[in-house]
Amino acid sequence: MGRTDRLLAAMTLAEKIGQLNMAAGSGAVTGPGARRELEEGIRNGQIGNVLNVWGGAEVHALQRLAVEHSRLGIPLLVGLDVIHGHHTIFPVPLAEACLFDPHSWESTARTAAQEAAADGVSLTFAPMLDVARDPRWGRMVESPGEDPWVATEFAAAKTRGSQRTSLGAGSSVAAVAKHLCGYGAVTAGREYASVDVSERTLYEVHLPPFAAAVAAGAAAIMPAFIDIAGVPMTANVALLQGWLRGRCTFDGVVISDYNAIAELRNHGAAADIVAAAALALKAGIDIDMASEAYAQGLPEALRRGLVSSAQLDESVLRVLRLKERLGLLDDPYRHEVVGSAPTTARELAREVARKAIVLLTHRDRVLPLSAQVSHIALIGPLASASDAMLGPWAAAGRPEDAVSILAGLKGALPRCRIDSVAGVVASSQDLSGLPGAIERCRAAEVVILCLGEDASMSGEGGSRADLGLPGGQRALAEAALDIGKPVIVLLSSGRPLTVPWLFERAHAVLATWFLGGEAGNAIADVLTGKFNPSGKLPVTWPRHVGQVPIFYAQRPSGRPSKAGERLSSSYLDVPATPQFPFGHGLSYGTFTLHDLSCTPASIRAGEGFAVSVSVHNESAIAGEATVFLFVHDVVATISRPVMELKGVRRTALGPGERSRVTWQLPASALTFLDAHLNPVLEPGRFEIHVGQSADPGAFLSCSIEVLP
Ligand code: NOJ
Repeated sequence: MGRTDRLLAAMTLAEKIGQLNMAAGSGAVTGPGARRELEEGIRNGQIGNVLNVWGGAEVHALQRLAVEHSRLGIPLLVGLDVIHGHHTIFPVPLAEACLFDPHSWESTARTAAQEAAADGVSLTFAPMLDVARDPRWGRMVESPGEDPWVATEFAAAKTRGSQRTSLGAGSSVAAVAKHLCGYGAVTAGREYASVDVSERTLYEVHLPPFAAAVAAGAAAIMPAFIDIAGVPMTANVALLQGWLRGRCTFDGVVISDYNAIAELRNHGAAADIVAAAALALKAGIDIDMASEAYAQGLPEALRRGLVSSAQLDESVLRVLRLKERLGLLDDPYRHEVVGSAPTTARELAREVARKAIVLLTHRDRVLPLSAQVSHIALIGPLASASDAMLGPWAAAGRPEDAVSILAGLKGALPRCRIDSVAGVVASSQDLSGLPGAIERCRAAEVVILCLGEDASMSGEGGSRADLGLPGGQRALAEAALDIGKPVIVLLSSGRPLTVPWLFERAHAVLATWFLGGEAGNAIADVLTGKFNPSGKLPVTWPRHVGQVPIFYAQRPSGRPSKAGERLSSSYLDVPATPQFPFGHGLSYGTFTLHDLSCTPASIRAGEGFAVSVSVHNESAIAGEATVFLFVHDVVATISRPVMELKGVRRTALGPGERSRVTWQLPASALTFLDAHLNPVLEPGRFEIHVGQSADPGAFLSCSIEVLP
């Protein structure tokens, strides 16, 4: 009998249920009574895990109660949302996705894990892997964007980064891949709303990132709050037992979302807390996050025979095994954990942040700023808002450690006069500060507008029906543009904003998302030309909210969209095309693609093919180009998307330099799910499109034949 089995055999029913209970720490520390309850629960074995606590002293105090004062001395799992950094805050995931670089994704996760582990955290509620195609949904900010292939790469990289080579290796934390699944498809982008997607879309789009996380060894999975076609994910036997534990052979821990088990009653899926607890346990949810449903409901559910003690024991064992794998049973205080060096972490944060910036529009060569620039007006609500730079999930990040845009620019341009004022705020229509701001713009040589959303406008509960600039910002921007000076716009947001008028009129617009603690320095690096922008959009950017959900991998339709043709798949009032395609992102230089080759011309199942293209830096400035490879199955038994991403390459090129990028792809890259959702490779022609974005107008194309 192993150690975990021995522990299980020694447990009372209450202690078993305690191992499945995760209580909220921060709520508990706000009141002395609640604190006592938390401490008491840990001592008597009824709380086996906590969330929302961190910091050596705080975690050790709670851990000591579990280890030294509970009957069996089993340590706690300590969970926290370390979404994009712990002390050092990196760009929000949507921004980090703009790098299209698994190596960077892994590095930031590794650093975050090191810092969190040193703070006593053993479990991070990340990576968030919801494919997001609707920017009304506020949680797009936490996601790697619209593409399932990118999300699978992101899943694997983040899992590797958090868990390192082994969970027991001191500075790793267990990854909780979330939110399984389809959360990004909530009806009309409205938070927590029902999801009704086809099984095909689930299997092609929403599930692959989770399969990738499981394959990379993710220790845990969190089901989403939502219901899919009437079945709440918290009780979804088909997906949690059938797909996750069955098909993916996942044997790790499943943790509910916050209070989600009790909310099965609100879904109309459970009549009472007993039924809710039974439904969740039967679906394979091991840990109840913060709802107390297991504590309150499982004893009665067992008595009524709604669940069996074998089911309960299986869940308890999975939790104990995770504690064992994390090394907690041997060293509850994880003494070996070494935090990362703060300076190295900040360097990484700056590097990743500047690479995440996307130059959306640029004319008249207003950028980079001239080294002689002597007077800038830095205007807008985000100019000196260091706290907003951290975005909606900042874990242990402190606003006072974040570099604002103003501080970053002042540091980079010490001899330049920089006048800064907010002018308006994002949360109100008050325009009383506008005249003063415009005065400053008039006096300056260049105007930089820092516009967008407050950090709290995206993230959980951050759905918006209007994707324009909130508050008085449009009035401010239009008044500044009317002056006729060069206007550069920095757009901070957790989603694409629909501001076609701004793209039309401003000299340059940069998507600066929420770039984390080094935001201001990273932005200054790009504006001054110290760094040539290279970020690419991981989501299609709509012109109008009426176009969403919008994504490049559309199926062709019987009447494909044709501008000006009424009876084609289009709108009467806006073009069907996006403002910017997936993958869009300008550079200060110019890259061109040449000489595409696909060899051999025909293949059979089990074989492979190579695609290669030359990339030429035609400018006098060094930079990094990103090249995307899409495929299209021209005729198939199931109508296939007009393009599907199969590979991305970044290549750094000096002035005038050329290089050749090559992909080796197996024939299996051309498979799709047949009518029964089984992978199939059908004979026929496949188009291969290579480009610097998903803009079909700029593709180089060739084709390959799959032989029967
Ligand atoms: C609710 C969120 O949906 C989830 O992503 C998060 O991990 C938990 N709260 C815990 O904070």
